[in-house]
Amino acid sequence: MSGMRTFAGQVTGWDRLAWDQKCMVRYRSLSWIASLVSLLPIPLWRLLRWAGSDKEMPGHHQYGRTYHALFRHLKYRRTRLLEIGIGGYDFHIGGHSLLAWQAFFPFGTIVACDIQPKPMLAGRRRHIYRTDQSSATDLAVLAEREGPFDIVIDDGSHLSAHQIFTFHELFPALRPDGIYVIEDVQTSYWPGKVGATVWDGAMMDTPEFARTCVGYFCDLLKYVNHSEFVPEQRYDPIKMKFGKRIKSITFEHNLIIIAKGNNRAASTFAADLARGERPLADTADG
Ligand SMILES: C[S@@+](CC[C@H](N)C(=O)[O-])C[C@H]1O[C@@H](n2cnc3c(N)ncnc32)[C@H](O)[C@@H]1O
Repeated sequence: MSGMRTFAGQVTGWDRLAWDQKCMVRYRSLSWIASLVSLLPIPLWRLLRWAGSDKEMPGHHQYGRTYHALFRHLKYRRTRLLEIGIGGYDFHIGGHSLLAWQAFFPFGTIVACDIQPKPMLAGRRRHIYRTDQSSATDLAVLAEREGPFDIVIDDGSHLSAHQIFTFHELFPALRPDGIYVIEDVQTSYWPGKVGATVWDGAMMDTPEFARTCVGYFCDLLKYVNHSEFVPEQRYDPIKMKFGKRIKSITFEHNLIIIAKGNNRAASTFAADLARGERPLADTADG
C-alpha cells in the first residue's frame, strides 16, 4: 500500500511538494468541498468537527450546538461574518473555522483577520486581513472596508484588555440585529502565567476582576435594564450607550454572547417611579 502511495506521489508530483505547499493543496480541496456541501442542511457542530476547528472537538470546546442555534436563521442569507483569529499562529496556515463557516453559509462572506500574515487563505468568499486587534486603526480599516457584519466572533489573543477594546471598536460595525461572540473567556480567571502566556485575568473576589472581560460584561449586563434606573442612579455614560443597543448578554461556558438590538423601550414601571419623574432612559442622550 505504501509502495503504491509512493508511486502515486511520484507520478502526481505530490512527493516533491514542500510541507506548506501540501497544506495549501489540502486546504484548497477542503474549501472546494465546503462550498459544495454548503447548501445541505448539515448542523454547524458537524461542520466544525469536519473542519478540525477546536470550537467543537473532544477535549476542547463544545461551542458547535450553541453556534448552530444562534446562526441557523442566517444560513441561507447573505451573511457577513467577521472572525478575529484565523488560527495556526506563526507555524501553521490555520483557517479551520473559516472552512466550517464557508460550509455552513452558502451565500455568506467570511472576513477573517489575524496578527500573523495569512494572505494565502484568501478566496472568493474568504476575505483575509492582517490585523492586530489591539490597534484602533487596524480595526477601523476592517469595519470600513467590510462592515456592517451580521456576526462578529472574537477568537484572537484572548487577553481581556483586547477583548474589551475590540468590542468597543467593532460593536458599532455590527448590524442593528447582529450577534457578537467572545470566545475563551476562561482567561478572565487567570491572573498571570498559565501555559506559555501571561494573562491579564484576576481573582474573582478582588476589585481587579472588574477589569477582566467577564467582569466587564457582568457590569455591562446591568445596563440592559437601564430604563428601570431611578434618576439618582449613577452610571457610566459609555456603558449606557451600549446598553441602549443591547437586547441580551448571555454567558455560557467560556463564551459571552451579545445580541444587538433596539433596547430603548421606556420603563414598564414608569408610572410607579418615585415622584413621577420620567425614567432615565428617556432623558439620557445617546
Ligand atoms: C485560537 S486561534 C484562532 C482559531 C480559529 N479561529 C479556529 O477556530 O480555527 C487564535 C489566533 O489569534 C491570533 N492572534 C493572537 N493575537 C492577536 C491579535 N492581537 N490580533 C489578532 N489576532 C491575534 C493568533 O495568531 C492565532 O492564529
